[in-house]
Amino acid sequence: MGANYGHMVDVNDVTEHADLAEGTPAGTRREFAPDAPPDGARFDPSDTRQAHAYGERGKMPRRPQGILRLGHVDTTVTDLDLASAYYTGVMGMEITARTEDSVYLKCWDEEDHHSLRLRYAPRQGMDLMSFKVHHEDDLADLENKVTRYGFPVERISKGETLGQGESVRFATPSGHLMELVADVEKVGASGRRRTPDPATDDQPFPRDKICPPRLDHMLINAEEVGESTQFFMDVLGFRMTEQLLDGNGHQLGSWLERSNSPHDLAIVHGPNGGLHHFAFWLDDWDDVRDAADVLAYNGIQLDVGPTRHGITRGSTIYFFDPLGTRNEVFTGGYRPDPDFPTLTWTEDNIGRAIFYYEGQVNERFMRVHT
Ligand SMILES: [Fe+2]
Repeated sequence: MGANYGHMVDVNDVTEHADLAEGTPAGTRREFAPDAPPDGARFDPSDTRQAHAYGERGKMPRRPQGILRLGHVDTTVTDLDLASAYYTGVMGMEITARTEDSVYLKCWDEEDHHSLRLRYAPRQGMDLMSFKVHHEDDLADLENKVTRYGFPVERISKGETLGQGESVRFATPSGHLMELVADVEKVGASGRRRTPDPATDDQPFPRDKICPPRLDHMLINAEEVGESTQFFMDVLGFRMTEQLLDGNGHQLGSWLERSNSPHDLAIVHGPNGGLHHFAFWLDDWDDVRDAADVLAYNGIQLDVGPTRHGITRGSTIYFFDPLGTRNEVFTGGYRPDPDFPTLTWTEDNIGRAIFYYEGQVNERFMRVHT
């Protein structure tokens, strides 16, 4: 016998009942303009100070706010045609531009020009990792901080790189080339955003490609994880959500965020300059399962999963593109606010930390990188 809730309110006729907003007379509707500032605060369009502070949707306020998110990963591939075929035909990314030696791709829900650049080179690897900052003022601010740290910074002028304006580049302590950019060409999300394709009879699965909505994070190797972590936190303003310590208290890994996600960037012990993987976001566990179907159907080599991480609590599959670069699809995890305390794991629990279900890490996962 269920609870008796008595007379049920007709939710289509709420004006006859008390408004949920305390102190608001029944029958009063609270309406905010579509571009109203957060929390329903008063917004006077004629007040230029307010316009300056709140900006328009899609245009960031003009005070330095630091890094916004991982923007794009630029990788090198030994076979541009094969890599393009995989990232479009299996991963389901869209090509936004081609040059003689490169292909630029984005995911369907991404607005910016590209999130992945594939450049032909004799060796698989990484050219750079590009993080988007909120505004041009952030470029100068972070350029100063990196310079004060003692690392040279190079300014790349508008027009030198496809799909974006001026940027700054510098080497990190782990020897990775890092780029910061504010001005990125908006090409817009695809039509799938509002009308996701339904399953069709002639497709083996609900989706015949993985089609992640966006790039999520990346993981790089560093010989001195502690030094690198301090650089990303002290100089670039990353917050550390989790760390993995060895028996002597030295960092074996750190998970860092700028976007209130469990990680935008992670660093694990390994050779300087190494790329362990980059990861695409999926919306839920069902999509992870569907991704596994697509990977199996296409004969893609899995590394680990589908499974779940202890660190980040995310659900995951690791696999390799046809040229040996590790990819990941990732979903779940928590939403860390800036006051989220760092979670610490120790090496004696590394199995559960990395792969929570298996409780152990395979040799290939620790050793293989590009
Ligand atoms: Fe990852």
